[in-house]
Amino acid sequence: MSTLEIKKIVKAIETSDGAGVKLKRSIGTPEASYIDPFLMLDEFGSENKDDYIAGFPAHPHRGIETVTYMLEGKFQHQDSTGSKGIMETGDVQWMKTGRGIIHSEMPAMSGGKLLGFQLWINMPSKLKKNKPEYLYIKKNELGSYKSDGVTVKVIAGKFKDIEGPEKNHNVEPIYFHVVLEKKKKFEFNLPKEHNSFIYLLKGELTVGNNKHEKTSDSNLILLNKGTDLIVEANKMSEFLFIAGKPIGEEIARGGPFVMNTKEEINQAIKDYQDGTFAKY
Ligand code: FE2
Repeated sequence: MSTLEIKKIVKAIETSDGAGVKLKRSIGTPEASYIDPFLMLDEFGSENKDDYIAGFPAHPHRGIETVTYMLEGKFQHQDSTGSKGIMETGDVQWMKTGRGIIHSEMPAMSGGKLLGFQLWINMPSKLKKNKPEYLYIKKNELGSYKSDGVTVKVIAGKFKDIEGPEKNHNVEPIYFHVVLEKKKKFEFNLPKEHNSFIYLLKGELTVGNNKHEKTSDSNLILLNKGTDLIVEANKMSEFLFIAGKPIGEEIARGGPFVMNTKEEINQAIKDYQDGTFAKY
């Protein structure tokens, strides 16, 4: 047994994507470029509709999975497989893009608060050629644990005997949304080969046994490998805990495409320009 300790704390960078949606990016930045198998983590949200109303009009993806978790607000999704859906507060959309998808993600709200997360998970080369697949998870289908000041929503993985809806996945992902009251602890055992991190939304945490610098909101807390995670809330805190088995392959990035080689990125760009990208 080994306790997970903090490896590095990374401040999320304010940026924008899509048609100008303001967001905070933590993974996929110079300081945390690739936490195998995780390629990107964005927090998007604002109380000002001008920061998000332009949305993410039609754009392609290849070779990745995108996991979108809406904490507040409503988004409409539409794509080249003919799939269409509305994500409401608390819902999750888990999309495996495989060999290619063109989709749009647009606000289905005219104002009010928006808060959500998009995580990109790499796919191993053998799955990058698959047909796109989806899992739409309604809020009430998430695993939910609540006891003595500890609340855990389970999107993937298993907490105590509560299992999340995304199962039999190649990287054995763990994706929890945790809320801790002051002085309460979140304790969890994970496979020793997994890479893992905490994304702190609110509050301040003490992680592991070693002394560490203060944690604060909108920070990515990268963890060392280990089997035992112990997190204590110094005050009421809320965070995402995410972990997965590394894929260990070379990656080549080209914006919305993530493949193994530069040639495959060039091929993706060519397929998109030729109009053959999303033919199934
Ligand atoms: Fe997208």
